[in-house]
Amino acid sequence: MNLTLAIIKPDATGSGAVGRIVAHLEATGFTVRSLRMLTMTTQQARSFYAVHRERPFYDSLVSFMTSGPCIPIVLEAPDAVMRLRQTIGATDPAEAAEGTVRRLYAESRERNAIHGSDSDDNARREIGFFFTEAELAR
Ligand code: RTP
Ligand code: MG
Repeated sequence: MNLTLAIIKPDATGSGAVGRIVAHLEATGFTVRSLRMLTMTTQQARSFYAVHRERPFYDSLVSFMTSGPCIPIVLEAPDAVMRLRQTIGATDPAEAAEGTVRRLYAESRERNAIHGSDSDDNARREIGFFFTEAELAR
């Protein structure tokens, strides 16, 4: 699939990195198909990250993701999911490759600046979580 979902997380919207992150994604070859800004409710964040509900970091992650505004972005490129994962880097910025978004802008393993879908199926689900069909139309 040529679409994926990124989310600029509350640490990055709060630190003034939004413009640089969007510019980085565009410079990497992605086209922005849609974006919006919202502060997620606890219920939304719990539902978005339901796959992690048994993990020890789940409550903390939900608390972080609701602590300020997020910017979900639908990105288009060939092999979008894989390309975005390469562009954002490893979960922990200390382990992320040089030049990746997390290496450049993330604070910690939890406050890691950006989300990227990890499969085509999850990209479809996650895009549908934030956007209607009409909001993706050209
Ligand atoms: P994401 O889903 O946000 O793109 O991140 P990811 O695939 O690299 O990492 P994942 O394992 O899916 O974890 C989701 C998010 O949970 C937070 N996290 N905290 N404290 C911790 O050990 C820990 N581990 C993960 C991060 O915000 C991570 O991006
Ligand atoms: Mg993940």
